[in-house]
Amino acid sequence: MRESYLIDAVRTARGRQSRPKKGFVGELQNIHPASLGGKLVDALLERNPNLPAEKVEDVIYSTTTVCKEQASDIARNIVLSSNLPQTCSGVHLNRYCSGALQASAFASASVRCGDYDAVMAGGGEHMNMCPIGSDMDYEHLPFSPEMTQKYELGSQGAAAEIIAGKYHLSQEEINTFSVKSQQKAYAATQAGKFKNEIIPVTWIDQDGHEQILDTDTNIKPDTKVEKINELPRPFKEGGMIHAASSSGICDGSSLALWVSEECVKDFDLKPRARILSNANYGVDPKEMLDGVIPGTELALKRAGLKIDDIDRFEINEAFASVPLAWMKTLKVSEEKVNVNGGAIAMGHPLGSTGGILLATIINELERENLRYGLITLCAAFGMSGTMIIERL
Ligand SMILES: CC(C)(COP(=O)(O)OP(=O)(O)OC[C@H]1O[C@@H](n2cnc3c(N)ncnc32)[C@H](O)[C@@H]1OP(=O)(O)O)[C@@H](O)C(=O)NCCC(=O)NCCS
Repeated sequence: MRESYLIDAVRTARGRQSRPKKGFVGELQNIHPASLGGKLVDALLERNPNLPAEKVEDVIYSTTTVCKEQASDIARNIVLSSNLPQTCSGVHLNRYCSGALQASAFASASVRCGDYDAVMAGGGEHMNMCPIGSDMDYEHLPFSPEMTQKYELGSQGAAAEIIAGKYHLSQEEINTFSVKSQQKAYAATQAGKFKNEIIPVTWIDQDGHEQILDTDTNIKPDTKVEKINELPRPFKEGGMIHAASSSGICDGSSLALWVSEECVKDFDLKPRARILSNANYGVDPKEMLDGVIPGTELALKRAGLKIDDIDRFEINEAFASVPLAWMKTLKVSEEKVNVNGGAIAMGHPLGSTGGILLATIINELERENLRYGLITLCAAFGMSGTMIIERL
């Protein structure tokens, strides 16, 4: 089978949830999701001028909440909003929080088997425009009687509490991890570590002034353990998970460019990475969030690697209990995990986060001259998506 290469991976900065009472609006909240995706398509074309736009045959794009501006086939709408020719198709997919990672997995696999020479893949989520659950019609739920008889369903927040209990995590561990996420994200931002992956986006503030969003704005560097310990526990009375140990609600988009060996040769492109393995793994939909553990084990087995071989990990911080349970079970030291912070500090725009983590890890591997990176995200209803990449 031929090889498939990652040529580039970009993202927007994550725009905050609008808080009119606190005097700010979400930076991306008024930009149409298809326009935002289109900006990333154009950025990939501009950053890789050797590749003719006509070579890109498809855009695979995930969103989680499929309604309103994110309804229908957003991927085709992104193509038609961008400088790609109309010959390029677009396909939407939904694997909840691991959707953008799945988009890249499908893109790379399709290039490998010869179905594409060049394809873009990623995801987006406008949580301001299309809040979590706003695509659900409670009179017509998508859960069959068979499913609800067999499984108890719950919220992600409730599952985060279950995971904290199941893995015997302490409040201190949860608080300390959450504070560190903020500190690491702040330090990485200050050091300009996200500059190469973030495509600046122009937005209009509430006074009608043009602004540029080029950094993740959700970060709270002055977060203190004592302060966050006093926050309410929204998911369980007497629980451990609070707003400061949960991923923030925000808007964002990510996109990667995958091409064949022929494309690399024909257009003198420089491969940055390739996929060594992917794994999707399902667990009990009520506990929901710890599929990242068996998913990691399966991806490692498929790649023929041991956990110690991996140089950097991005374990999505849906809630602090998820990476903590993962680290405790797989005995991985914090020095290799989420070294530039995570979703607790910067936010988690659901369908786009897998692609954000892909962009972040490839830049980190390049900066530190390292070889193997592993990304894993828990996804709703007990799913998880894991990918191991090799920097080239
Ligand atoms: C946890 C959650 C319910 C909190 O929502 P919220 O209450 O609107 O969050 P806020 O940002 O307003 O934070 C609540 C309070 O905590 C405070 N807070 C949040 N983070 C803080 C921090 N790092 N340090 C200090 N205070 C903090 C806020 O300032 C706010 O205080 P206020 O009420 O005095 O204004 C929401 O973020 C959430 O649902 N996150 C998870 C999303 C999700 O499920 N994603 C899918 C994952 S699988």
